[in-house]
Amino acid sequence: MKIKVLLLIIICLNSAYALTDRRILIQPESVSDEILKSMRDHLNATQEILNAIIKNDMNTIARVSENRLGFKSLTTTSASHNNMPFIPKVMETLSLGLAQSASELAIYAKNNEKEKLLPALNKVMGYCVSCHNTYRIR
Ligand code: HEC
Repeated sequence: MKIKVLLLIIICLNSAYALTDRRILIQPESVSDEILKSMRDHLNATQEILNAIIKNDMNTIARVSENRLGFKSLTTTSASHNNMPFIPKVMETLSLGLAQSASELAIYAKNNEKEKLLPALNKVMGYCVSCHNTYRIR
């Protein structure tokens, strides 16, 4: 009997876990708002980069990629930098991976290495997807 109850508890716990398998970030409301604001800009920036690749506009690719997603964005946008104390280690690693891959994309654009642009953008988007698959705010 005891074993049956125990099994039932384990099954319940497991299915509850399956429903919420993305880890939730506990942080002040103002910080979450900042993160979401910066995220919406990430999406805009990603589309601007794709659009600039289609138009062969290397300057725009380099500028948007470095300033809005790359390492430069970590110092200029309040979101990524000030929020670091609330961000778990794995998320910080993914965030730095995003910055590094976006800065790489900017360098390829500056060097006019066109064949490397789409694979580099694909790598950038891989970090968006990995982080979204792992974390949520609400
Ligand atoms: C280090 C983690 C991380 C990375 C990298 C990341 N995001 Fe996010 N993003 C989040 C989290 C956490 C949320 C909140 C999602 C939730 O609660 O469901 C979010 C939410 C969003 C939202 C929803 C905004 C809103 O107002 O609801 C968009 C759009 C978005 N991200 C775009 C992007 C794009 C595009 C990229 C890549 C260029 C990216 N994100 C990279 C963590 C990340």
